[in-house]
Amino acid sequence: MDAFLIEGGRKIGGEVKISGSKNASLPILAATLLTDDDVILKNAPDLSDVRTMLKLLSYIGKEIEKKDDSLIVKQGEKINTEAPYDLVKTMRASVLVLGAMIGKYHRARVSFPGGCAIGARPIDQHLKGFEALGVKIDIEEGYIVAGVKKLVGNRVVFDVPTVGGTENVLMAAVFSEGGAVLENAAMEPEVVDLANFLNSMGAKISGAGTPTIQVEGVKKLHGSDYSIIPDRIEAATYFIAGAMAGGEVVVDSLIPEHIEAVLKKADESGVDFSVEDSRIIVRGGRKLRGVQIKTQPYPGFPTDVQAQMMSMLTRAQGISVIVETIFENRFMHVNELNRMGANIKVEDRTAIINGVKKLKGAPVMASDLRASASLVLAGLVAEGVTKISRIYHLDRGYESMECKLNALGASVKRIKE
Ligand code: EPU
Repeated sequence: MDAFLIEGGRKIGGEVKISGSKNASLPILAATLLTDDDVILKNAPDLSDVRTMLKLLSYIGKEIEKKDDSLIVKQGEKINTEAPYDLVKTMRASVLVLGAMIGKYHRARVSFPGGCAIGARPIDQHLKGFEALGVKIDIEEGYIVAGVKKLVGNRVVFDVPTVGGTENVLMAAVFSEGGAVLENAAMEPEVVDLANFLNSMGAKISGAGTPTIQVEGVKKLHGSDYSIIPDRIEAATYFIAGAMAGGEVVVDSLIPEHIEAVLKKADESGVDFSVEDSRIIVRGGRKLRGVQIKTQPYPGFPTDVQAQMMSMLTRAQGISVIVETIFENRFMHVNELNRMGANIKVEDRTAIINGVKKLKGAPVMASDLRASASLVLAGLVAEGVTKISRIYHLDRGYESMECKLNALGASVKRIKE
């Protein structure tokens, strides 16, 4: 297994280019199943989660070519409407092929994803949405078996705004007869990107980005040449890196409004930054203040930036409070940050961070993707060397993180353990 060795205390500076969004690429790749024509996807990031989705698409029957930073997805010879346990267990987002296969083939057999480190993460809302479209769902030996003769248009009302649920049901609904309306839908930019991609293939979807999405059913989707949005979570992570360890860091090729909630809290904390079109210039070195944060669905503060922000707040003056409302077990970085000298206490879903003057390097363990990122950020400013084990979590969602950080002047080495 790989680990990172980070020599802390170096000022970072320069420009970092943000890659394509992981959480937009995964549903968009699943949605390529909805057409038999070729699809060209530009700006797809090279990440282990994307490779897992490509493996799953090949298993189902697509052929994939890579050309520079584009993926070309073509229809293969055979179709196999199944997502086996081995692929789903390594990545929950594999369950997104369910909606696409129901839409295109009217049947699917997909392994139940089960829980994961950050929480139980049920998919009851996905299934409820499919059932509203007339799909019969059975659970057999750990698999979701779905079948439908004709997808009917209907009103789907989600009990909670779910990103994956909205995406999954949207993919099945594009072919529904009479059209469908999704209410209390997730408003995340990745949902909007999926809707834009589907529309580029001939779907008729409006309202994505609001709580009500309207789908006018169509008979067929054609191929597309589409560019995926930049990764707002990666952008926020490098922005926080600049605030903690800059120098002046230019975060380039992002959509700043996608991280407005993060920028608002950073501003409240005293971070020095300016926004220019698709770039943010952030300057470190300021004394930061403690702030209060509650994670919320978009456009609120993203749960996927909670751990990185906590890392920044470990050295802010005074007390910060972070309430995690989305996932019940997303504070696994706390003990590791405390091992590095932070002073954080957790009570249920609330973390209370008492600012300390400095962090110290220590051997720590990555537990999930965003927790790993928070440890890397802490390592950049800690005194001495930080060793982060189980970096494979980080490789799921950050493209060449050590290269990008080293190009900014950090010292991050990947070693084999
Ligand atoms: N929920 C239900 N029932 C459902 C679906 C969700 O109760 O059927 C609950 C969840 O338990 C959670 C809340 O609804 O409490 C929101 O979950 P959501 O379905 O929105 O999350 P997701 O689709 O499983 C995506 C991202 C996550 C990100 C969340 C929240 C992808 C592939 N994953 O997950 O990203 O944290 O939305 O924004 O898009 C990450 O990138 O590190 C990551 C975990």
